[in-house]
Amino acid sequence: MKDYFKVDEWKIVEEGFDPHYNKVAESVFSLGNGRMGQRANFEEAYSGETLQGNYVAGVYYPDKTRVGWWKNGYPEYFAKVLNAANWIGIDVWIGNEQLDLAKGEVISFSRELNMKEGYLKRSFRAKTAGGKEVEVVATRFCSMVDDECGAIKYTITPLNFDDIITITPFIDGDIANKDSNYDEKFWDEVQKGIAEGISSVQLRTKKTGFEVLTAMKCVLFNGDTQVDYQSTPILKEKYVATEIKVDAQQGEPVTLIKYAVNLSSQNYKAEELAARATALLAAISAKGFDTMLAEQAAAWAEKWKHNDIIIEGDAKAQQGIRFNIFQLNQTYTGEDDRLNIGPKGFTGEKYGGSTYWDTEAYCVPFYLATAEQKVARNLLLYRYKQLGKAIENAKLLGFKNGAALYPMVTMDGTECHNEWEITFEEIHRNGAIAFAIYNYVRYTGNEAYLADYGLEVLIAISRFWSQRITFSEDKQQYVMLGVTGPNEYENNVNNNWYTSTIAVWCMKYTLEVIGKVKHTDPAKYDALATKIAFDEATETGRFADIIAKMYFPHDEKLGIYLQQDGYLDKEQILVKDLPKSELPLVKKWSWDRILRSIYIKQADVLQGLYFFEEDYDLDTIRRNYDFYEPRTVHESSLSPCVHAILAAKLGDVERAYQFYLRTSRLDIDDYNDDTDDGCHITSMAGTWMAIVEGFGGMRVKDDMLSFNPLLPGEWKALSFQIGFRGSLLNIRIAHDGVTVKNLSEKAITVLLNGDSQLVSGNGEVLVNV
Ligand code: BGC
Repeated sequence: MKDYFKVDEWKIVEEGFDPHYNKVAESVFSLGNGRMGQRANFEEAYSGETLQGNYVAGVYYPDKTRVGWWKNGYPEYFAKVLNAANWIGIDVWIGNEQLDLAKGEVISFSRELNMKEGYLKRSFRAKTAGGKEVEVVATRFCSMVDDECGAIKYTITPLNFDDIITITPFIDGDIANKDSNYDEKFWDEVQKGIAEGISSVQLRTKKTGFEVLTAMKCVLFNGDTQVDYQSTPILKEKYVATEIKVDAQQGEPVTLIKYAVNLSSQNYKAEELAARATALLAAISAKGFDTMLAEQAAAWAEKWKHNDIIIEGDAKAQQGIRFNIFQLNQTYTGEDDRLNIGPKGFTGEKYGGSTYWDTEAYCVPFYLATAEQKVARNLLLYRYKQLGKAIENAKLLGFKNGAALYPMVTMDGTECHNEWEITFEEIHRNGAIAFAIYNYVRYTGNEAYLADYGLEVLIAISRFWSQRITFSEDKQQYVMLGVTGPNEYENNVNNNWYTSTIAVWCMKYTLEVIGKVKHTDPAKYDALATKIAFDEATETGRFADIIAKMYFPHDEKLGIYLQQDGYLDKEQILVKDLPKSELPLVKKWSWDRILRSIYIKQADVLQGLYFFEEDYDLDTIRRNYDFYEPRTVHESSLSPCVHAILAAKLGDVERAYQFYLRTSRLDIDDYNDDTDDGCHITSMAGTWMAIVEGFGGMRVKDDMLSFNPLLPGEWKALSFQIGFRGSLLNIRIAHDGVTVKNLSEKAITVLLNGDSQLVSGNGEVLVNV
């Protein structure tokens, strides 16, 4: 449903309550702080349609794989991010009627996500079946400052009665995942208790043995005055609550402040969780809700300083991009190299909350430019630490000698995906991991990373390619058989141009880095070569031979690269000539029909031309773009952004703008009718790329930032912040000129439309166009 939320540059606003749209709203209003997150479920009971979701980063369950026909090499399990204890719950009874917006009457309702300051506020007036009217205002947040903590302020005012209101704040760990293969519950109770004003439940995950302690402390106010209260403890399996009865008077607000913490045994010994929770709750309740909220606003102000994007003259686009940036910052903060970015972040269970190639291909550029170096570095280290598992994974499939195949889907490095055409064949993901290393070093200039970590990963990946690629006697060239490219609408194809291209690029880059590290740090190189038993002459010889003799499918007549062998044999009916009623194909066509068609799910050849644009002239990029885009259905949310960037590069601002619009409000406007089960977090990074790399034309060239801006006619101006090697820049692109402001002390030289411009510390350069 489009236009459901109100347009506001800093907020997402829902006015009026539509129960049919509730699950979409729950996704869109999700909160998170990198360490934990949750969907925007109501605090009080709700018996209508809802998808309950509370998540603790890095806590997962290995749900035994369920497939129709088991194949050797399949992973044992699919890791699932766990729906964890619900800490937001506050049950409310008015007299003897339970407050539930699915029952009684909702007189007014509004929900607002304040992206500037990082909180969610919900206000409503409701009438119970018995005619009692109340007003409720609930504000809550996941603290960016105390990232294991959250707080809720819940105010209820009787509007037309005096009566006993029973307020029961609770923690409920008796939780199931919607997405579970065998309808099991994944948590066991370790302990629970209520003592000295603190209620807690400690749970342990089955199989993985993560322990999470969720605890709360509540404070009550009559009007503005804090009051002591009597409560009745309620303890059930995996559940604790304190029932508070308030003699409420008409027109007098009663406020409950609920402080909560989620502590995980990933970070502390399990037996220490309870004491830590007590200390943390004491600390945050002493700070108080208002101070916590003020700190939250300050933490967000600091984030926005580094990564806000301003689109002048288009409030919808403005709201869209801020929403994307907000969600990315809620999902990953880069504090912990064991954590990563699930395609749905903390907004839903789909995709298991696991790590995909999305991180390297789409998210790394965002964090590189908008956060401290350590954030992107931690994303890289996540893969470095999982190298052993990637080597094991390749070994299971028959590869040897330290060849690594990173998983398509993972939590801890083990492959989780269980469709053979993806698990075994969508191996291009290995290339994205190598490309992220290249991207990181290119952006930060931190070459030491290569000797310390990067080269080891690169050699292991290149070893994999050199074994996966085989020699065709017929062609007298190397070929790569049986793969799935980024276009998952075709499987088991031979010589997917993108996969072969990135594989060869990996080997070239590995050779280059070997040369570099040998030169700059011979001792580290020797130590690494010994550690991994690297037979340099033979192995690099094979890499070089493959590089020289790789086969890449192309068509002379059309002057394009072929997505794979045989692509042109297919019936060539363009997407525009398909009846609209047949789209999206994934919902309307049989899988068999999709596989045999020309239709492309997401950028494939074009993904390669985007990554390696410097190796191709503009005409080649244009010919391929003009050929493939009309055959692309963009049924992955990762697709439009790459097309937006390429369209901008080709100077087609109108097409770039159209693609941009499809990404930026994808979830706010629920374009694909699928936001109910979570937001498309990783594609939000693609939206950022479409702005900065597309309209800003930003690239790194020869250790410098380079901009070739192109502004959509619909916008008055566009500006964004970029951090680069110690400088913080604000780039403002207007129709008559581009301004580069240096917000830091450190002078920097940038390229603007190819000309170099020195921007002194705190200085500014204006170039008319
Ligand atoms: C896309 C993949 C992506 C995955 C998770 C799929 O629909 O085709 O490229 O990695 O979603 O976002």
